[in-house]
Amino acid sequence: MKKRKKLKKKYVRYLALIFIIGLIIGGFVIYRNYSNNDMSQDEKNKQVNKDDDITLRLKRLSYSTDDIRFVKNEVNNENIDYLIKKEIDSNLAMEIIRENYYIDDYLEKYLNYYEDNKELSKKEIVTRVNSHLDTEFYTNTEKTDDTLGKFVILNKHYYSDGNYEGKDLVDVDSKYHIWGYEFKLSKECYEAFLKMYEDAMNAGYAFKINSAYRSYDTQVKIYQGWVNQDGQALADTYSARAGYSEHQTGYAFDVRDYPFTTDDYSKTKSFTWVSENAYKYGFIIRFPLNKEYITGYQYEPWHYRYVGLEAAKYIHDNDITFEEYYEYFIRFNNPRNLG
Ligand code: DAL
Ligand code: ZN
Repeated sequence: MKKRKKLKKKYVRYLALIFIIGLIIGGFVIYRNYSNNDMSQDEKNKQVNKDDDITLRLKRLSYSTDDIRFVKNEVNNENIDYLIKKEIDSNLAMEIIRENYYIDDYLEKYLNYYEDNKELSKKEIVTRVNSHLDTEFYTNTEKTDDTLGKFVILNKHYYSDGNYEGKDLVDVDSKYHIWGYEFKLSKECYEAFLKMYEDAMNAGYAFKINSAYRSYDTQVKIYQGWVNQDGQALADTYSARAGYSEHQTGYAFDVRDYPFTTDDYSKTKSFTWVSENAYKYGFIIRFPLNKEYITGYQYEPWHYRYVGLEAAKYIHDNDITFEEYYEYFIRFNNPRNLG
C-alpha cells in the first residue's frame, strides 16, 4: 500500500516536472516569436518611414505625385538620395529620367554631362552618355565582352586583344569577292550575306566583298599604313586601331559595286538596293551619315555589320547607331522593355 502511494507521488512529481519544462519551453518559443515579429515590424516601420521621408523630400524639391511614383519605380535608392542631396531641379531630373533610353546606372553621368552641355536636348544627353561620348575617344576604354557573338561591339570605347578571333569563321567563296586572296566571315554572317547577295542579283544589283574578317595583326599593319600616309589624326577618322575594328569580329565586311565604277559607293546603283534592304537580312550600315560624332568614323556606305534580324530592324526603324543599341539592349538588357 505504502509502495503504491510512493509510486503515485513520484508519478505526480514527474508530471509536474514535465509540465514546468513545457511551460518554460512554450514561454521561450512565444517570446522568440514575439520578439522576431517585433523586429520585422520595426524594420517594416523603418521602410515605411524611409518611403514617406523620400516622398516628403522629393515633394519639397517640387516633384509632383506622378513624378514621385515614376522615380520610385525607375530610380534606385542610391540615385534618389543623390537627387535629394544635390537638390537636383525636378524638371531637369524628370526630363532625363523619362527619356526612352534612360539607363539608371548613368543618372549621375547624365547630370554631369548636362552641366557642361546645357544647350543639348535631354535626348541628346542620354544618347551621348550611353555612347560614352562623355569621355574622349580612346580614353577610359573598356574590354569588350567577346562572348556575345553577333552582338560583340568594338569601337573607340570598347576594345579586344589579339586573342579574340571572330566566331565560327568560314571561307568566303571567291565568286563573292574581288581580290585573289582569302576572305573569311563568321558563318552566321556569311549565310545572311549569301541570301542578300542572291536577292540583290535577282533584282539586278551586283556587288562584291572588298574586305571581311581581319585579324588583330592584319589591322596593326593596315592602320599603321594609313598613319604613315595621312598622319594619325586623319587616319583615326576612317581606320580603326588594332583591337578596335569590327573587322576582327568576322561580322563586318566592305562591299563595292560590280563591275567597279566609283570609290564613292553611295553613288552606285547597288548601294540604293543594299542600303534599303540590308536590315531585312540582319545587316546595318555601321557608320551612318550624320552619326560620325557617335561612331567616331566618317560615313562608310560600304561597311556592313551583321547583328541579326531583330536588332537590324530596330536600328533601321529607329534610326539609331549600334553604339546606342548595344548599351541599352545588350549591356543593360533593355531595362524599360522597349521594342
Ligand atoms: N574602317 C573601319 C572603321 C575599320 O577600320 O574597322
Ligand atoms: Zn570596313
